[in-house]
Amino acid sequence: MSRIKIKQLSISYGNHQVLKNVSLDIPDRQIIAVIGPSGCGKTTLLKSMNRLLDLNEDVAVKGEIFIDGENIYRPDIDVTALRKRVGFLPQHPYPLPMSIFDNVAFGPKIHGLDISSTPAVSGAQEETGKKEGMRRFVEHYLSLAGLWDEVKDRLHSPAAKLSIGQQQRLALARVLSIEPEIILADEPTSALDPISAKLVETQFKILKQDYTIIFVTHILRQAKRLADYIIFLYMGDLVEHATAGQFFSEPRDEKTRAYITGEIS
Ligand SMILES: Nc1ncnc2c1ncn2[C@@H]1O[C@H](COP(=O)(O)OP(=O)(O)OP(=O)(O)O)[C@@H](O)[C@H]1O
Ligand SMILES: [Mg+2]
Repeated sequence: MSRIKIKQLSISYGNHQVLKNVSLDIPDRQIIAVIGPSGCGKTTLLKSMNRLLDLNEDVAVKGEIFIDGENIYRPDIDVTALRKRVGFLPQHPYPLPMSIFDNVAFGPKIHGLDISSTPAVSGAQEETGKKEGMRRFVEHYLSLAGLWDEVKDRLHSPAAKLSIGQQQRLALARVLSIEPEIILADEPTSALDPISAKLVETQFKILKQDYTIIFVTHILRQAKRLADYIIFLYMGDLVEHATAGQFFSEPRDEKTRAYITGEIS
């Protein structure tokens, strides 16, 4: 089953073409790793999938990306609704200058979401009132991000006091609180210490039952540990995409083999 289909996607910044005629289907409810050397177009590919690229002035996108059958580059698409369905976890967490609690509570406020319809709260709010509804909401998403136990006794202290690893899981809680179906994550653990990175990886493995997670990584070992499916880019070309098992044990392309063995980097 595939919900994301990329057809003949080419992307340029000014006259510099960084993705060249990329076509692939991305499997649903799995962890997908996008790998390849620096500058090969990984972030560009990731950001093309929720139209975050639009924020660049001189970017040109050719081709099509279908999500659930809908071409997200159609001019009349609702980009805000798209970005709600396709959440983005950046490389560095930037907590809002407010408490841990408010960082999570803030998402639905800016998106104008009615939290009583979310799985975290549904039904409970009538019985318990708005305040308790929001408390449950915040607990639900902090738990999904694997952070609840560490912060439940200091929810009202500033988020900035958390460690970077905790801030990254807070950022994940905020992404999840918008109830996306697809999560894009650009090198989500590169700023973290190994233990925090492990915690994020563990959470991804749990979340993939309900979400499609597409993440960029520089670390082959991490792709091997975590991903079900690999997308390998090299200088803007899609060289190979395959299940992780096939990719690492029986690569079809000579470049893939050379990259895995470290002959090219
Ligand atoms: N906003 C931009 N304007 C102009 N060129 C850009 C822009 N963003 C990226 N590029 C160029 O496009 C190419 C691909 O960049 P991209 O960020 O997608 O690579 P990447 O694979 O994510 O690299 P890294 O591993 O270093 O993060 C690079 O040559 C980069 O310099
Ligand atoms: Mg990048």
